[in-house]
Amino acid sequence: MAPVDVDSPPIEIRLRNLTLSGHVGFDSLPDQLVSKSVQNGFIFNIMCIGETGLGKSTLMDSLFNTDFESTPSPHSLDSVQLKAHTYELLESQVRLKLTVVDTVGYGDQINKEDSFSAIVDYIDAQFEYYLQEELKIKRSLSTYHDSRIHVCLYFISPTGHGLKSIDLVCMKQLDQKVNIIPIIAKADTISKTELQKFKSKIITELKNNGVSIYQFPVDDESVSEINATMNSHIPFAVIGSTDFIKVGNKMVRARQYPWGTVQVENESHCEFGQLREMLIRTNMEDMREKTHCNLYELYRKRRLEQMGFSDVDENHKPVSFQQTFETKRSTHLQELQQNEEEIRQMFVARVKGKEGELKEAEKELHAKFDKLKKAHAEEKKKIEDSSRKLEDEILEFNRRKAQYQQMGHHTLTLGKTKKK
Ligand code: GTP
Ligand code: MG
Repeated sequence: MAPVDVDSPPIEIRLRNLTLSGHVGFDSLPDQLVSKSVQNGFIFNIMCIGETGLGKSTLMDSLFNTDFESTPSPHSLDSVQLKAHTYELLESQVRLKLTVVDTVGYGDQINKEDSFSAIVDYIDAQFEYYLQEELKIKRSLSTYHDSRIHVCLYFISPTGHGLKSIDLVCMKQLDQKVNIIPIIAKADTISKTELQKFKSKIITELKNNGVSIYQFPVDDESVSEINATMNSHIPFAVIGSTDFIKVGNKMVRARQYPWGTVQVENESHCEFGQLREMLIRTNMEDMREKTHCNLYELYRKRRLEQMGFSDVDENHKPVSFQQTFETKRSTHLQELQQNEEEIRQMFVARVKGKEGELKEAEKELHAKFDKLKKAHAEEKKKIEDSSRKLEDEILEFNRRKAQYQQMGHHTLTLGKTKKK
């Protein structure tokens, strides 16, 4: 295959409008798309961030009208852990592969400074898995289980006093990585007037700290009005329950108290209904799209730049992936050669150094040997001198001894002669 010349501009396309003289059939494209999507099923991944016991699992059960059979989390973990569970749900022939990711032990540590890092790492890891699949030669994106988080429900504790610093820090760290929808949990514990003040306090704090939260899209005419209204209701004040009571002839989710009953789906009791409407019925596809087209794109761009890829060169001229790859490859090879040369030179220098050291040691040894040899010769000479001297002395001694013996004999003979 001939290489594509990326420097030449793409062929200019001139559009002409034509009328059809009869039915062709491509008006069925939207139906084909729907049928294909239904056949493939859908994937949606939710992350619930909130302190232990804030009602995360109960809200998930309430939202999807099922029992996810979750167990309460322990309070004494050293760090935040993320647990993901995937379920297959079916509603009127539409299959939804739902993954719920729970933050276990969030906010339980004495030092909460690092609470967000496990969450950030988890979200990045899901982007990375997708990127690695995308970069494979043999990709299987159509069957790939996409685990990227499409929405993060951030559970705010109903204190009435605004956000805690852990909430702000965490949301700030995540706002470029995931669609964040803040919600006020256990909203039945806060009064109506307090709730309005609490909501505006939260929104002001988020704005002041530059935290961007997910906004329902207003560019689609069919939902722009409802979405615009709902944007002003964020953060939704929600209530969850696993208990049901009979209202009329219907069983409804509710929480019962000595003074009355709160119905989860009753819009005059809380904003659970609005949250479900916005999250599942109206904007689920928008969140999936934003995750893929905006948030993942941002991650992908950053990662590819980290790997040294760019759409333009240093002179801002467009470069192709192939050109960048080839330039990178040749710089890499050059670097390798340079490293090899440096290592070789280092080796030679070290060998030379060692050789010098060895020669020096040899010289020292020789000098030592000569010195020892000299000392040995001197010592030998000294010993020989002393031995010779000793021998002379012995000779002298023996001579004198013989002399004395002779003299003694003579004297003795003389004495004997006199006595006679
Ligand atoms: P962990 O998974 O252990 O972190 O807890 P969680 O956040 O999943 O909370 P869970 O749903 O287990 O609920 C904890 C307790 O809060 C349970 O006793 C629930 O009945 C109660 N609860 C849940 N939702 C609400 C609510 O909206 N209002 C009130 N008052 N209580 C709630
Ligand atoms: Mg739970």
